[in-house]
Amino acid sequence: MDLGLQGGKAIVTGASRGIGRRIAELLAEEGCDIALCARADSRVADAVESLEKRGVRAFGSALNVRDGERYVQWLSEAREALGGVDLFIANVSAGGGMDGKDSERDWYRNFEIDVLAAVRGCELLADAMKDSSRAAIVMIGEALSGEAFGPPLAYNALKSALATHAKQLSHALAPSGIRVNAMAPGPAAFEGSRWEMLEYADPKLYNATVRQHPSRRLSTADEIARYAVFLASPAASWVNGTQIPVDGGFSQRIGF
Ligand SMILES: NC(=O)c1ccc[n+]([C@@H]2O[C@H](COP(=O)([O-])OP(=O)(O)OC[C@H]3O[C@@H](n4cnc5c(N)ncnc54)[C@H](OP(=O)(O)O)[C@@H]3O)[C@@H](O)[C@H]2O)c1
Repeated sequence: MDLGLQGGKAIVTGASRGIGRRIAELLAEEGCDIALCARADSRVADAVESLEKRGVRAFGSALNVRDGERYVQWLSEAREALGGVDLFIANVSAGGGMDGKDSERDWYRNFEIDVLAAVRGCELLADAMKDSSRAAIVMIGEALSGEAFGPPLAYNALKSALATHAKQLSHALAPSGIRVNAMAPGPAAFEGSRWEMLEYADPKLYNATVRQHPSRRLSTADEIARYAVFLASPAASWVNGTQIPVDGGFSQRIGF
């Protein structure tokens, strides 16, 4: 199936490693030019190099999305460097850790990184995306945000907020031809991932999670990224306002 992404222009946040990196690589393999950001300079440079090897243009910047002014400036720079924008993938996340006893810090961090960076990206890019015939926004959520799993984390609650925003935005932007979807990955383990770290740091939790998984394993980054790329592509032209779990059947809820 042709995904219809050849010649596309995509902005992916937090794409120097992990799932975001894999999304950027797969988009590049489909023929999209990419602009990406993350904090660590060397990994941004490495990601840009690997994307350029795939024959597309790639622009990377090292920045912290919590610095709202710099982040918004980067979004404009990215749009200009690409010469427009078709796809915005809001992938960056603070992750699901807990900051000791100071839970307020988690709430602010997850709000600024998981939610506000996505909101700001949509607000800044929507105008330019109206000129695209294949405009799509994908927000990377979390399968466990719809479940009571583990301790009460700001991460899960704020990923739910993101899914709600995606739905609302899908209605507001559909008349302009911009699709907005969220997707909800389950636990994924890959080199450098939190779950890979937990396998050693908290084997009890890791093993219990694998045992609880109907597939008895966690996903790869590739299994998540492939769905994100499909969702962003014109091949998914009639998919709008959804949040679909991509978790190998891990979550317990049934969505009708
Ligand atoms: N992995 C899982 O099990 C899992 C499960 C469900 C949902 N998800 C979701 O999938 C998405 C990707 O997760 P992942 O596991 O691939 O994440 P990850 O491995 O932690 O990668 C996060 C990326 O974002 C960058 N980043 C982090 N904080 C940043 C900041 N403040 N400013 C700019 N860049 C920043 C990181 O680079 P730097 O550190 O250099 O900044 C990296 O490129 C997230 O939305 C996550 O919530 C993941």
